[in-house]
Amino acid sequence: MTRAIFRAVPPIRFTIRFPNAATRVWIARGALASLGRETRRVTGATRVVLVTDTHVGPLYAARARRALRHAGIETDLVTVPAGERSKSIERLAGLWRRFDDAGLSRAVAVVALGGGVVGDLAGFAAATWLRGVPWIGVPTSLLAMVDSAVGGKTGIDLPSGKNLVGAFHQPSLVIVDPALLATLPARHRRAGLAEVVKMGFACDAPLFRVCERHAAALAVGNPAALATAITRALRVKTRIVSRDERDRGERTALNFGHTVGHAYETARGYRGVLHGEAVAVGMCVAARLSVRVAGLDPAALRRLERLLASLGLPRRLTGVRAIALERAMRHDKKRDARATRWVLTPRMGHASVPQPITTRLVRATLLDVGARI
Ligand code: GLY
Repeated sequence: MTRAIFRAVPPIRFTIRFPNAATRVWIARGALASLGRETRRVTGATRVVLVTDTHVGPLYAARARRALRHAGIETDLVTVPAGERSKSIERLAGLWRRFDDAGLSRAVAVVALGGGVVGDLAGFAAATWLRGVPWIGVPTSLLAMVDSAVGGKTGIDLPSGKNLVGAFHQPSLVIVDPALLATLPARHRRAGLAEVVKMGFACDAPLFRVCERHAAALAVGNPAALATAITRALRVKTRIVSRDERDRGERTALNFGHTVGHAYETARGYRGVLHGEAVAVGMCVAARLSVRVAGLDPAALRRLERLLASLGLPRRLTGVRAIALERAMRHDKKRDARATRWVLTPRMGHASVPQPITTRLVRATLLDVGARI
């Protein structure tokens, strides 16, 4: 069974085309070893700043540097503390200073080796340095491999909300090496699966069914099942972002579960809850609202909750008051002058245009899923 899935996932190379940019994507076990050659081929750089964090650096920075050196590329290494709190103005300014010290000119590139935090921070530093230098993503978490590394969203958080400052800046190259998941803690792996479930539930029902079929294998981190999930999720993501780079239309579907998800992270001070876990609970809220106002079949909600449970993901809010979530949601990027707008799913695999929902109904639903009064 496992072998059959593996055979279906050979190394894959493709290009995502945007109106003013292109991202080359290379998915293969062991792809990290070709980081130097691919960087040289795609950007022509002979010098890079390699940004990583305190978890990933000790595991993979030496291998990344070796691969770069073999291709004749010099590396300046910058290591930031692991965790969402590094997506801050202070860390961003620190990167700019390091770019300055390294004499980073337009002829060189930034490599982001890490999960979503490193990608968002290093990508935004690359977007803003000299009004934009090339960057390369080497995602090491499942969440970054299936979602955040592709599509060019970069940015940092403010104390009042997540990703409030940012830019679209497409990476020139994304290298996805599923072998790197071997060192990812199980909890982080499960959190990454939440984004795969999201893509299935909001954008692609066949992907949701794949997750259901292979839930047991995904939950224990079976490499073949993970490789299948990565490839299929990236196909879905590619289809969407290549048609709507700037998040003005169908890309908003990828925000399903994120209205409450981001608010939950903010209200908890980015402590004790991982982004994917927050999105899992956020999807339960959004799906309940979808049943109430968008005609979603309650059976689909039950399937979502069952799948999240079998992947070991939370379905309930803990340690947070409804009022704190509501305050954080007032900073949601999809908010207009009057109200937060919600991505809902009238049926599995389809998302609606973001729409306002009455504060009463939102409050009742937050309380239903565990928020305190
Ligand atoms: N992670 C959501 C997006 O890329 O649009």
